[in-house]
Amino acid sequence: MLRSVHRTTSAARIAQLAKRYSSYASSVFPDEPSVPQLKTEVPGPIGTQLNTNLGDVFDNRAAYFVTDYYNSIGNYISDADGNKLLDVYMQIASIGLGYNNPALKQVAKSDEMTTALINRPALACFPGVDYQKVLEDGILKAAPPGMTKVWTATTGSDANETAFKAAFMLQAARDRGSRDFNQQELISVMNNEAPGASEKCILSFDKAFHGRLFGSLSTTRSKAIHKLDIPAFPWPKAPFPALKYPLKDFENENKQEENRCLEQLEDIIVGKGKGNIAALIVEPVQSEGGDNHASASFFQGVRDITLKHNIFMIVDEVQTGVAATGKFWAHEHWNLSTPPDMVTFSKKFQAAGFYFRDPELQPRQAYRQFNTWCGDPSKALIARTIVQEIEANNLVAATASVGDYLFNNLSSLFEKYPGHASNIRGQNMGTFIAWDSPNADHRAKFLLACRAKGVNIGGCGEAAIRLRPSLAFNESHADVLCGIIENVLGEM
Ligand SMILES: Cc1ncc(COP(=O)(O)O)c(C=O)c1O
Repeated sequence: MLRSVHRTTSAARIAQLAKRYSSYASSVFPDEPSVPQLKTEVPGPIGTQLNTNLGDVFDNRAAYFVTDYYNSIGNYISDADGNKLLDVYMQIASIGLGYNNPALKQVAKSDEMTTALINRPALACFPGVDYQKVLEDGILKAAPPGMTKVWTATTGSDANETAFKAAFMLQAARDRGSRDFNQQELISVMNNEAPGASEKCILSFDKAFHGRLFGSLSTTRSKAIHKLDIPAFPWPKAPFPALKYPLKDFENENKQEENRCLEQLEDIIVGKGKGNIAALIVEPVQSEGGDNHASASFFQGVRDITLKHNIFMIVDEVQTGVAATGKFWAHEHWNLSTPPDMVTFSKKFQAAGFYFRDPELQPRQAYRQFNTWCGDPSKALIARTIVQEIEANNLVAATASVGDYLFNNLSSLFEKYPGHASNIRGQNMGTFIAWDSPNADHRAKFLLACRAKGVNIGGCGEAAIRLRPSLAFNESHADVLCGIIENVLGEM
């Protein structure tokens, strides 16, 4: 039985609205539900039992619900009890084309995928005959402006750490000039000591999130619980602007705040970080840290400072990349006078790695940027299909457009509930939209109430709610989402 999930906007009205829009989703997911379908509580009895059993062998304490991936479709995630929820969280922002996308299914069934999957290569030593073409037709086809090279990795954290290594090795090579490694370096490095082990560092920003492996975790500054008990590099942290909303009412204050942060960044670089900072890493929107935005001119300021002080600028597009912000890469919104030195990716691309432009960022000796797999051709094939689907269906423009629609509708909606939702952000940033709950408890209640009405949605930072729908999300999904949000806020 389909349970009604709408109070102010009826399911029938939403289904009617849904019909008005023809889109990528309607052509590739003709069987996608038009509204959430709820049969039980979420999680229901089957899912609860499966999760209890799973807990015997796997740490499942973060599980929202057990998912039926076989029956998830497009923008709708199915749980083990057959409930179908509109998913605007999409596996922590990592499903680009919707669940069970037919183009991905097709490549999954191809001979080239079978070959890639069952003969997983050690790519740096035994690259396949077609790896260059797969990269050129996919990951490299989507390279950010000014970038022509890529190093592939396995996860977002790994992408960032390989970029850090590239930065450290090139900075050291430049300091060393034409000479080779010396005895002192070769001996000291085996004791984890300078000068062989670099004393340079990576600068990151307050509230940043760049991953949870040892190196990346030292640049992560979003939540203490991520870092506690893990050894950390003593690397510097610069302030990230805390903007006030609505932006148009706080132009001067926000400008001052961004200038303050830029000044402090430069103070750190010329002060205790002098000569020591190999690279700076920054997210276009600090996602895990609360969806914190800054203006294009702030990022241009960061770029200018890095160029002035010979610090590499790494833009972490692990969460912002692949069309979600209405540009393929979010940093394209900045119109930088000089492109960043490296751009890291993962999540919605399924494949991970970093793009770069200076060929010297490839270390002078082989085997230094290295591990067994160095990426995964099967993921490069998936990434290729993702690029092709985005191009063929204009999904960058479509996401920009549905994002505007959603932002406007949510803004109007929140005006009715000022005590429950504030600081909406992400205007002109596609569907990369977020807002704040008054506090963490309120947010938890809001998220659970949304789930109970058939929307899977995520939080970030202390009390923010973030939208991370797929690129197959259209105006009809936006209407369903806004209808349910309105119902939930009305009941809170
Ligand atoms: C901006 C950013 N960088 C890096 C990462 C780490 O990626 P992974 O979890 O794949 O290691 C994340 C993950 O959420 C992220 O949002």
